[in-house]
Amino acid sequence: MYTIQNPLENKNGTLYIDGVSTLDLARQFDTPLYVYSGSRIRDNCRRIKSAFKKYYPKFRFYYAVKANNNLALLHLIKQEADGFDCAAIEEIELALKAGAKPNEILYSGVYNRNEELAFALKAGVNINLEGISQLKRLLLLKSKISKGLENSKNFQNKIKTPEFISFRVNPGIQGGKYKKLVFAGPDAKFGIIEKDILEAYTIAKDAGIKKFGIHMMTGSCVLNPEYFEKATEKLLEIAERINKELGITFEFIDIGGGLGIPYESPEKELDLDLTAKKVATVFKEKAKLLGNPYLMIEPGRYVVGDASILLTKVHSIKQAYKKFIGVDAGMNTLLRPMLYDAYHQIFAANKLNEKPSEKANIAGPVCENTDQLAKDRLLPKLEEGDLLAVLNAGAYGFSMASQYNTRPLPAEVLVTNGKAELIRKRETVEDIYRNVIVPKRLGK
Ligand code: LLP
Repeated sequence: MYTIQNPLENKNGTLYIDGVSTLDLARQFDTPLYVYSGSRIRDNCRRIKSAFKKYYPKFRFYYAVKANNNLALLHLIKQEADGFDCAAIEEIELALKAGAKPNEILYSGVYNRNEELAFALKAGVNINLEGISQLKRLLLLKSKISKGLENSKNFQNKIKTPEFISFRVNPGIQGGKYKKLVFAGPDAKFGIIEKDILEAYTIAKDAGIKKFGIHMMTGSCVLNPEYFEKATEKLLEIAERINKELGITFEFIDIGGGLGIPYESPEKELDLDLTAKKVATVFKEKAKLLGNPYLMIEPGRYVVGDASILLTKVHSIKQAYKKFIGVDAGMNTLLRPMLYDAYHQIFAANKLNEKPSEKANIAGPVCENTDQLAKDRLLPKLEEGDLLAVLNAGAYGFSMASQYNTRPLPAEVLVTNGKAELIRKRETVEDIYRNVIVPKRLGK
């Protein structure tokens, strides 16, 4: 049985988060509503840092913005993490807005456009490339940018030839809780395969780049410490080959994100201490040879995942061939159950002390039959007006939400020391048509 644990509490049958009643939150801010616990986010960051630093002090942890890009949360995380992993130039802009310095940002774009590479170059962030074509285009671009700016000393100072480049390797090792969360191996679209990696570093070195990193991101939501050890060993083996063949040493070796959280029983928490110990042990063996690099990781899910619940109200109950509990959050609010068949624990937030007594499907308001947050879920007898809390909603929840069915994006609230603050307003229909242009001849 999944138990209620920090930052959640059961107070006389009502679910509280960080000392605030979910019923009050739903009344004050309406539903669907993402609620974040500030203290849990901080705790998660601190646990990561202390576990790894204990075994390998030259450690850095960047937060993967894609997991949740709310700027208020990024400001909070900025106080705890060493920097940000950004998947898009817009994420770079957010990280800068949150106060990160360019050298505290790693830009790992995927199949980048030239304009994106140019933006990253100008911004002066560290660039992590996942394809040789990207490197070639970056090098061409660099000379083009500098040429065009020959007369502008100011700008030239800003641009500076990147002294540094990192490459994302597809090391062939695969992880990930679901097949769809595997990001390396033969079916993966990401990274440079092992046989091409020397070529990538050779081109970069020949182009005058002096400092290097190496990176991988093999899969998401892994709960097994041995996996991280095995993947790190493989990445180090590749780094060692690059070192032997090309004499390259590394500023950092980034083993990616992927730290899992338990979503369903009998999954157990990732043993972070053991993970850090195992990774650091293999790291230490090779570190000296590879230039004493930083050990870097860039988790997203582990930082925000279990720090948030999604509150959704029961509006309509139907007994059809099955029992359907109709709520106001759907695939437009939390896509994971529909996209990955992901399991999210659900509590009846106002009936925590009532025994689960019947199975039902929790259905959203979107006109798709896949729009069901849970199937055959055992819950207390529910009535219209009840409040449900979907757990572990902080990572890839809001960030994958959409306006499908013309549904405005939900509001987000941050709870700190028993106080709730709105950190993103609920959208309105005007937000949905804000950028639409209706040609005059078609009407107003
Ligand atoms: N670094 C890179 C380059 C990544 O692509 C990712 C995630 C991370 C770090 C952070 O990974 P994490 O620590 O969160 O596992 N939408 C899926 C997860 C997709 C992850 C994509 N990349 C989900 O809802 O489970």
